[in-house]
Amino acid sequence: MNKQKTLMVGNWKMNPETPAEAKKNFRIIKTQGSKLRNVDTVICPTFLHYGDLSPIVSGHRVVLGVQDCFAGGTGSKTGEVSALQASKAKARYCIVGHSERRAAGETNEEISKKIISLLKYGVTPIVCIGEGERDVAGKYLFEIEKQVAASLKDLKKNQVSKIVIAYEPLWAIGKNAKRAANSAEIEEMVIQIRKVLTDLYDLKKIPTTRILYGGSVSKQEHVEDFMVNGKVDGFLIGRASLDGKTFAGLMKTAEATSKNKK
Ligand code: PGA
Repeated sequence: MNKQKTLMVGNWKMNPETPAEAKKNFRIIKTQGSKLRNVDTVICPTFLHYGDLSPIVSGHRVVLGVQDCFAGGTGSKTGEVSALQASKAKARYCIVGHSERRAAGETNEEISKKIISLLKYGVTPIVCIGEGERDVAGKYLFEIEKQVAASLKDLKKNQVSKIVIAYEPLWAIGKNAKRAANSAEIEEMVIQIRKVLTDLYDLKKIPTTRILYGGSVSKQEHVEDFMVNGKVDGFLIGRASLDGKTFAGLMKTAEATSKNKK
């Protein structure tokens, strides 16, 4: 684990139904997060609810992110939101390449453009990668290598540590998932991702890029185990971030685990 703070990201997807519920949930998370010195918390609401939450943000420990942005500059693109707009609205992070968007047709080419655009405007991209399934021959390791290389193809050497990578195996995400990955599976992938980055950019030192895990994280034991044994720097959490109290519990465990590791 590197020395940066642990990153706890709540991906609210198409939830909740109303701005009032979004505000209520966010307030619980904010109250908890502002007490934590070793954790950075990011909530990514829908674009519709973003403006309801931004006046509530104060301080730097709990901030907002967005779930996606347009793969290019500004202009006439119905339904899109640009990286520049995200930046002006003080979004600190933007999720890119989530498997649900890849399944809807998002390409590595677009992901790469989004990353470059976000970095240009000072928004940190959270780049999602993950294999469809694990096979005994280990093909999934190559799948990850290919995804990293294709998604980050336009990134410069000095930008490698400026992005966040979220390892989210597809089989562990969402309500049809049978289980979260285990810490051995996660650690193997964290090592693989750092190796791929080091080789790809011919780096002299292993990069400090924060690597998160996402997929059915719901229990405080997950957080502790995956940080200590899985060696992740934080989490991208869907369902368990929709309940402020549950997410606050996970944030507290992240704080305690970060402290113990120092
Ligand atoms: P989950 O979603 O925590 O509900 O599995 C994670 C994600 O899709 O980012």
